Amino acid sequence: LNILYIEDNELDIDLTVRELSKNAPDMVITVARTANEAIELIKSQADHPYDVILADMHLPDMDGLTLLATIRAESSAEAVVLITGQGDEEIAVAALKSGADDYLSKRPGYLARLPIVLENAVNRHNAEIERQTRIIKILYVEHNDVDIDLTQRHFKRYAPHIHVDVLHTADELLDLVNRNGALKYDLVMMDHRLQGLNALELLKELLQNRRYHIPIILVTGHGDEEVAVQAMKLGAAEYVVKTSDYLYHLPSIIENAFNRYELEKEKEALKFSEERFRLLAENAQDVIFRVRMKPETEFDYISPAIEKFTGYKPLEFYSDPRLLRTIVYEDDRQLYDSVFEGKLSSNKTVIMRWINKNGNLIWVEQQNVYVYKAGTVIAIECITRDITERVNSDEHIQRQMQRLAAMLTIDNAISASLDLHLTLGILLEHVTAQLHVDAACILKLNPYTKMLEYYASRGFKTRAVEKTMLRLGEGYASKAVMERKIISTSDILAFENPELFSNILKPEEFTVYYSAPLIAKGVVKGVLEIYNKTPFEADQEWVDFLEALAGQTAIAFDNAELFDSLQKSNLDLTQAYDSTLAGWVRALDLRDEETEGHAQRVAELTIHLAASMGIRDSELEHIRRGALLHDIGKMGVPDRILLKPGPLADEEWEIMRRHPTYAYNMLSGINYLKKALDIPACHHEKWDGTGYPRGLKGSAIPLSARIFAVVDVWDALTSDRPYRGAWSRERAIAYIKEQSGKQFDPDVVDEFIHLEEITEPQT
Ligand code: C2E
Ligand code: SIN
Ligand code: SIN
Ligand code: FE
Ligand code: FE
Repeated sequence: LNILYIEDNELDIDLTVRELSKNAPDMVITVARTANEAIELIKSQADHPYDVILADMHLPDMDGLTLLATIRAESSAEAVVLITGQGDEEIAVAALKSGADDYLSKRPGYLARLPIVLENAVNRHNAEIERQTRIIKILYVEHNDVDIDLTQRHFKRYAPHIHVDVLHTADELLDLVNRNGALKYDLVMMDHRLQGLNALELLKELLQNRRYHIPIILVTGHGDEEVAVQAMKLGAAEYVVKTSDYLYHLPSIIENAFNRYELEKEKEALKFSEERFRLLAENAQDVIFRVRMKPETEFDYISPAIEKFTGYKPLEFYSDPRLLRTIVYEDDRQLYDSVFEGKLSSNKTVIMRWINKNGNLIWVEQQNVYVYKAGTVIAIECITRDITERVNSDEHIQRQMQRLAAMLTIDNAISASLDLHLTLGILLEHVTAQLHVDAACILKLNPYTKMLEYYASRGFKTRAVEKTMLRLGEGYASKAVMERKIISTSDILAFENPELFSNILKPEEFTVYYSAPLIAKGVVKGVLEIYNKTPFEADQEWVDFLEALAGQTAIAFDNAELFDSLQKSNLDLTQAYDSTLAGWVRALDLRDEETEGHAQRVAELTIHLAASMGIRDSELEHIRRGALLHDIGKMGVPDRILLKPGPLADEEWEIMRRHPTYAYNMLSGINYLKKALDIPACHHEKWDGTGYPRGLKGSAIPLSARIFAVVDVWDALTSDRPYRGAWSRERAIAYIKEQSGKQFDPDVVDEFIHLEEITEPQT
């Protein structure tokens, strides 16, 4: 076998080539490391095509399905076997449907199966090609030379696609069969009267003793009903009497018999491929199931992965079709019902929560396809994927955003209210909600008495805490003040002075304790204490957030103290905001790995460009924030689109194009960012009016967004993206110049090019 092997991973290449040369030494392997290299090879080998192409689905320059389509457009001579990653079964199905001969997933031991899979694929592929070209080769066993001659001439003239070989006797036929073991013909036609065995005996020998699956047509000089019946009973495909015009009918009789047998073979093959799909389903990581709705709800099939998802075995679903509904989380049952009542548009993906046997909540994403009969839904086919991990990471972002919003609310409270008690009340509300803790308390350090005095609290059952009055040096709170860092314990009762706290901690059943010093302008103002009944894992993010909240509390104290001096400065506030903002941008970078540092870079460059275009200093800070947050709306774009390695499909673009609108919706409620909104909302508008989301034109686009657009595209082009590699500096410059007056404001482009020339790195 001549194999073309397309793979970019050197380790895989090494392992595979080694395995094949060990177990299948007669295979000749050519390795291509990119899809394009492979396509060139296939083109250049058009005269001597490879027998089989073995291709990795994940190639650097082309995805597997595109490669498959490209190969097929070029040539159909080669069998194609695709290698998928584990868990890529969906793609494997798509590949089989679009003409791959087989697939192999990289699970343990797959290399050992490779030779046999390749061989089978080649055989299957050759059979398929033969079927498509459809020359019918028949063997005609006939003793009458006149009949032979007439038949051959007739076929040559009227049915040239039927190729006829001739034998004269039964013995010759048996010889042939004995020699070859099989008959390499599509159909056998034989005269009833032959020398040696008669046709009925031959039928019996071939169809019953040797179990050939081949259509046999009996022709006879004169009809004999008895013989006809026997022949049909023995499995003859047809019984034809040599009437005066039988030759005219013969081609269509042959074709019919042939097609009938082919159909049967196809059915066999279909069974075989159903078997393959079944295997696929059985091994898939996703749950694949089909539920019949009429006459009664029943599972036709549910794949074993369901047990891994839910803890329930397939058998439990077969025997109780309602089980699935009961494991759906209560709030999602309505959604579930609408799916199973056929109320969704087909192919719609729904996300629901299930409760597994252990009582844990899992998130699943389910693709639904309705099966219709006479216009009504009779069944539904679903592929369900566990997306718990993904949802959790989305929740992470969600949490970050809630926290940012909390910070902003607190800050608004701080700047709007001079009543410290009111401010701190709001603050503590957010502390307990965002940190997910039972109670929080603020102690103020009295600079004269050196006592930590109760100031405000949330979440305590009794009012005992209000009497708190600690000498500096007593308890954890003092430690936080003196060491100027966060102090914590998960067993506060064991450690604290029991007397001191017995009337607070015991009745409240607290175990976990944190205290964070409140430091403003280098001076400790007090502590923020956190209490929780049950232990929890506080990750770094949580601790950072506690620290940020403590910082705000300190600012609130400080502001209150500045009350009289009328010098209330917003500087600290802005700093607190900006560090929050930075955290947000970090979260974005984390998700969209490829753009790491992109936000910071474009922010720097945008300010630079804006300044040299004469924008006032007071505006620059807003522009910086806007640039930092420009792609914040991508938080609303799902991973499968954002991180897609290839070009976007129409419906994916539709979602991607919403990111400026998402940004607007997210940020417009935040006072502090009002003036920074132009960039996130308008950075994809184009000078000539062809941009999105609003299609603004020329100077209708805010200047800051026009400036930013050039910088963003510059940075995007010169960076690697999931969907393409970085461009050279020269190429990016050329592109930006070329788009002057189309995508970009020509004045901005001129200034940008000017700046670039000044700052071009010395070589
Ligand atoms: P992005 O990667 O940050 O790109 C920002 C803008 O830079 C793009 O806005 C486009 O104006 C320009 N740009 C980036 N790469 C190229 C390029 O290869 N050729 C040209 N001519 N311009 C380029 P656009 O087109 O509105 O795209 C917005 C966002 O949509 C992109 O942000 C990216 O996240 C996503 N996106 C765009 N094209 C694709 C794609 O083919 N595949 C995937 N997965 N995402 C894409
Ligand atoms: C918690 O659940 O209380 C801490 C984890 C967090 O919210 O970051
Ligand atoms: C914040 O600044 O919003 C806290 C950041 C974090 O949760 O890591
Ligand atoms: Fe964008
Ligand atoms: Fe960008």
